[in-house]
Amino acid sequence: MEVFNLLKTIIQERRSIKKFNGKSVALSDITAVLEDAAWAPNHGNREPWRFVVAAEKGLEAIRTTIKECTVPKWNMLAPEELEQKTAGFKLPGAFVFVIVPEDLRQKERLEDFSAASALIQNAQLLAWEKGIGTCWKTPAWIDAPKFRQALGVKPGERILAMLQFGYYDELPKAKERTPIEEKITYFG
Ligand SMILES: Cc1cc2nc3c(=O)[nH]c(=O)nc-3n(C[C@H](O)[C@H](O)[C@H](O)COP(=O)(O)O)c2cc1C
Repeated sequence: MEVFNLLKTIIQERRSIKKFNGKSVALSDITAVLEDAAWAPNHGNREPWRFVVAAEKGLEAIRTTIKECTVPKWNMLAPEELEQKTAGFKLPGAFVFVIVPEDLRQKERLEDFSAASALIQNAQLLAWEKGIGTCWKTPAWIDAPKFRQALGVKPGERILAMLQFGYYDELPKAKERTPIEEKITYFG
């Protein structure tokens, strides 16, 4: 019984962290989280996910790649302006890009995206338990060809999430949820 209450608490109290404090997250913490998160349900045990992880020594490299590959018009900015616009990318302590296959069959594609989403939520909860905040991000440039190429994303694959990990100083307020009764239609 206690186990279920703990789970309920972690699910309810996890928050998306949008302001990290710049402290880096150990690669071993990221791989431990992914190892456990991979117990997500997935049809046919296809395990429809792979990851590009940027932590520790990869952290500076991914920040540079994001700057260089994402918003073309940023290339025209003066260095100080670019620095200001991209300052936020310095703060997460690790990045994980979750990549899923785009099955040509509709049903399998839906299943695979759903399974990878379950994995992502597992990862967010597991990180939270370790005191590490996360935010699932889908920036406008996530499908930009230059960025996909830099990450080694192949045709037939899609980046489902830029998952940011990091430490934080302030806990954001929860966005209230609609009472579930308003979302339920009782059948029969
Ligand atoms: C599929 C998906 C995409 C998201 N993309 C973004 C994003 O691009 N930028 C962002 O700030 N938050 C993003 N979020 C996080 C949501 O803003 C966040 O989950 C929501 O505000 C609820 O907050 P909570 O997670 O603390 O309950 C995304 C969440 C999901 C599930």
